[in-house]
Amino acid sequence: MVPATTLSPKMPPTMPGMPILGNATNFVSSNGLSTDFLMRLQREHGDVVHFKAMKQSFYLVSDPALVRQVLLERVQDFYKPDALAGKPRGLARFLGKSILTSGLEEWRPQRKLIQPLMQHNHIAQYAHTMVGMGERLLTHWQNGETRDLHKDMTQVTMWIIAETMFGLDVTRSAELEEMGRLAQRIVIDELISPIPGWFVGREKKSAEINTALTALVAQFMAEHRAQNNPARHDLLSILLETRDENGQPMSDQFLRDNILTMFFAGHETTANTLTWALYYLSQNPAILKELEREVDTILTDQRLPTLDDLPKLPYTLMVIKETMRIQPIVPMIPRVLAGDTSLGNYHLRAGAFVLISPYVLHHDPRRWTNPDTFDPTRFSAENESKIEKYAYLPFGGGPRICIGNHFALMEAHFLLALIVSRYRLSLAPGTNIIPLRQITCEPKDGMPMIVTRR
Ligand code: HEM
Repeated sequence: MVPATTLSPKMPPTMPGMPILGNATNFVSSNGLSTDFLMRLQREHGDVVHFKAMKQSFYLVSDPALVRQVLLERVQDFYKPDALAGKPRGLARFLGKSILTSGLEEWRPQRKLIQPLMQHNHIAQYAHTMVGMGERLLTHWQNGETRDLHKDMTQVTMWIIAETMFGLDVTRSAELEEMGRLAQRIVIDELISPIPGWFVGREKKSAEINTALTALVAQFMAEHRAQNNPARHDLLSILLETRDENGQPMSDQFLRDNILTMFFAGHETTANTLTWALYYLSQNPAILKELEREVDTILTDQRLPTLDDLPKLPYTLMVIKETMRIQPIVPMIPRVLAGDTSLGNYHLRAGAFVLISPYVLHHDPRRWTNPDTFDPTRFSAENESKIEKYAYLPFGGGPRICIGNHFALMEAHFLLALIVSRYRLSLAPGTNIIPLRQITCEPKDGMPMIVTRR
């Protein structure tokens, strides 16, 4: 915390709002978080702006240098919202004190333990599963049919995360998926709803979801322990074998919280990235053509991609990175202030949320030419190196940067190359695609596409 004597006396500009409501209905609508509103905040009031939604104060921070302070240089001042002491809220309601939701002290040993298991050399062994599950999905496709690609991408990424992280039976991971959807709705609702949770049944529903999640994970752990198969290399098996410095195994609570975290954080995000990539490709025929040319050259006769192919498919990766720029899958990175502090010469008040919006940063015309145009060449080796630090944040930044970023990019790289090598996808006629932005951004009513064999 900045000592009181050095606090700036200047308050940031405030977006005017309605009495009581503030800007609640502008900030969150039936389509989730409103990026139009966030863009307006920055355009009209600058890079640090205050607004209120109900009783809650928010600051939107949109200058990369200040974002760097929040996420990297002064992490001790800007808390993960779920990690503040007291009653668990937000994602911590469901994920407890996991690597995603814990405060710095409790987070550090967890990150140390899990990080090596998510690095390149370790996840390389999952290549086979990623490609195999992709191929399995394509066996369900009929030439010329219309399919919901969002559902398909969720399905395949769920198979992959279930297999690589927990060696899980895929049919039961669907139960987890459904509970995840409900949980996400509760978390967003809680952010702005003025009505006490017990009144709207939020507490009761959360408790029910939690009981069901705990029971399901306890069952997975019991099965792993009973099988005791040393050949397994999924994350859960490794964590079950892990001992701390005192030779003690990880607690069941630790395992439960982190297994659920990896499951929820680790598939829907990649599923949405792929879904939006396929959407933007369907809207940009010249880019699709360029991608098909690359994929056809490397994956001759539609053979399956291997790990060695990935460096030879740079344009495929550029398409993925540009998708995550134009449609960031995590549209908002929130932090909360435990005490008053200063940022960029402004005084920020305790209890307020500090919001970093990858969407606003990625559409800032000061940093991106024609920000609404889908253009993968922004991520060519030459151009990518010129992107300002903390202006492109699909995976967040600083010590809490996404631990699954290599995993996600490898998975998306494989699946996109595989799909494009075999099928051409076009949006079903008469479809209106609406982004629904909650914790992640998905197409509100699915992504109906016609799949045509190449
Ligand atoms: C394209 C896919 C993905 C995107 C866009 C994404 C995005 C993010 C973002 C923005 C954060 C930072 C949140 C914050 O600072 O508050 C984050 C954290 C995290 N992500 Fe991802 N993620 C993706 C895939 C994955 C995968 C595949 C996994 C696991 C297999 C994963 C696990 C996590 C975890 C555990 C954290 C918390 C890390 C920490 O606090 O130390 N994510 N992710």
